[in-house]
Amino acid sequence: MCGIVGYLGEKNTKEILLSGLKELEYRGYDSAGIAVLQNGTFHNFKAVGKLINLEEKTKDFVTSGFAMGIGHTRWATHGKPTELNAHPHLGEFSYVVHNGIIENYAELKKELQAGGTAFLSQTDTEVIVHQFEKNQKTAKNSFEAFAKTIKELHGAYAILLVTKGEAETIFFAKHGSPLLIGVNEANEKYFASSDTPLIGHCTNVSYLEDGDYGYVTPQEIALFDKNGIKKEAKFVTLSQNKILAQKEGYRFFMEKEIYEQGSVISDTLMGRVTENEILFDELDASLFDGISEIKLCACGTSYHSAMSASYLFERYSKIKTSIEVASEFRYREPIMTKDTLFVAISQSGETADTLETLKMAKAAGLKTLVICNVDNSSMVRLADASILTRAGIEKGVASTKAFATQITVFWMLSLYVAKIKGSLAQEQIASHIATLREVPSHVKVSDEMHERIKRLSKRYLHGHGFFFIGRDIFYPLALEGALKLKEISYLHAEGYPAGEMKHGPIALADPELFTIALLPKHLHYEKAKSNVEELSARDSTICAISQIPFDKADDFIEISPCDHYMLEFFEMMVALQLLSLEISIRLGNDVDMPRNLAKSVTVE
Ligand code: G6P
Repeated sequence: MCGIVGYLGEKNTKEILLSGLKELEYRGYDSAGIAVLQNGTFHNFKAVGKLINLEEKTKDFVTSGFAMGIGHTRWATHGKPTELNAHPHLGEFSYVVHNGIIENYAELKKELQAGGTAFLSQTDTEVIVHQFEKNQKTAKNSFEAFAKTIKELHGAYAILLVTKGEAETIFFAKHGSPLLIGVNEANEKYFASSDTPLIGHCTNVSYLEDGDYGYVTPQEIALFDKNGIKKEAKFVTLSQNKILAQKEGYRFFMEKEIYEQGSVISDTLMGRVTENEILFDELDASLFDGISEIKLCACGTSYHSAMSASYLFERYSKIKTSIEVASEFRYREPIMTKDTLFVAISQSGETADTLETLKMAKAAGLKTLVICNVDNSSMVRLADASILTRAGIEKGVASTKAFATQITVFWMLSLYVAKIKGSLAQEQIASHIATLREVPSHVKVSDEMHERIKRLSKRYLHGHGFFFIGRDIFYPLALEGALKLKEISYLHAEGYPAGEMKHGPIALADPELFTIALLPKHLHYEKAKSNVEELSARDSTICAISQIPFDKADDFIEISPCDHYMLEFFEMMVALQLLSLEISIRLGNDVDMPRNLAKSVTVE
């Protein structure tokens, strides 16, 4: 995800900005840039790819004495990872860096263009700097123009802005995206979007609150709340441990990523849902012309999201859907017809098997779409169209937030296609959208749920195996739950359709066989429940996950009340992720880097 740094002081500004950006590398990015104002002149550098490219471009640029600067690493969301789209964005005499999404950027851009402003990039961010310069023409001073601009922005942001007329001032604002101010005894001022760039430079930091905005100069930190009331910045001592800071207080990256799901799903939805319509700027509806089948192809966790998607496409879009494991599809001489839309799903966009199937589909003349988390990845570059999941970099090998955003995209896409095919009424789509908007709050981890799972996990460290069972779309979720556990606990776990247990696996049932049963209230509850009762009657140890208490279970994980099965899906997904995490931690395993596994498998 994007990262921000800022500096105002006497030290080597260029080096401070570059080293700050380096500390943010772990968050993932595809381009970077800095702007430095020194002796009345702006110096601006941007580069696509790794920071080394930016370092190369800035190698002859020297800063000495007082200067101020802002820097950014960008993870593409609006527009490709190009130099023009990289931050800082320039107006006529000001630069801005921004994290988050400006939801009303299209309206603002239209007005600015009508007034004669030319835009260089495809980003939402560029409107901020032009809007500021427009406001500056009528405002008493730059700060008034900045404050007015902030009020005109809707969405999520952390912003730093510098302007030529104010050679000793950095303007800042924070709403929905993190931003910190750092200070030290040398009276320098630092900014960053997380602790890590500040470690070693600052002794104290102030974590800004939503709605905060203001400016810093060498002498002053002027801070205002969302109502424009001046307030004191609250400073706390900065811990100096970098790895801890990167994990933001969590024990493992996987845990952090589980907790991040609410905010990344909000990013996935941002700008793509109106009250009664799904918008994918990146898609042309003609992609679905002449299409009567969707074929989904992937590996690992992405395969489970593909399987989940097949239920949604057939149920809502009324379109025939098939799923394929990429490593199988490659060699089984499949029949491909041109009325099929080929959809590859991949967090990384680099998985060798999936990439090959995409090439095969292209060679057979099929239309292709990629659902991916990494812009400019091999698959995104190859496919006719792509939808980015916007999960940000995922460091834990066991995928969590990438899966959550894939499911979100597929739910949206099934509604998008339902509209094209006329398979759902307008009110039904609107009602789904209202439910979709509730997803971020349903993936929020409650302390109570986490504590309960932590305690309960101690009973599941042995035995001769786990069965994760569910029906309908809860079957792929069961598969994913079992995969999570296998990956990080090294315990044997299988996902099974609940109704299929009686056709063989039930022979294994005894108290040492652990069954994790997914019992959604709003989808085939009675059917799934009787399958679990069959296992309980044979003395299998049952851990039920449901919003309805289940007296035949040995353990019960209660999810929050939901009035839609997809919300139950997301609630249970989090419970399964936490269960694997806690079992793995108790077993003393390396949660983030499990044995024998790789995050991105670029070989066959
Ligand atoms: C590897 C990872 C899995 C991932 C799979 C597919 O096996 O360990 O977590 O689900 O690759 O990766 P992709 O990037 O294509 O989604």
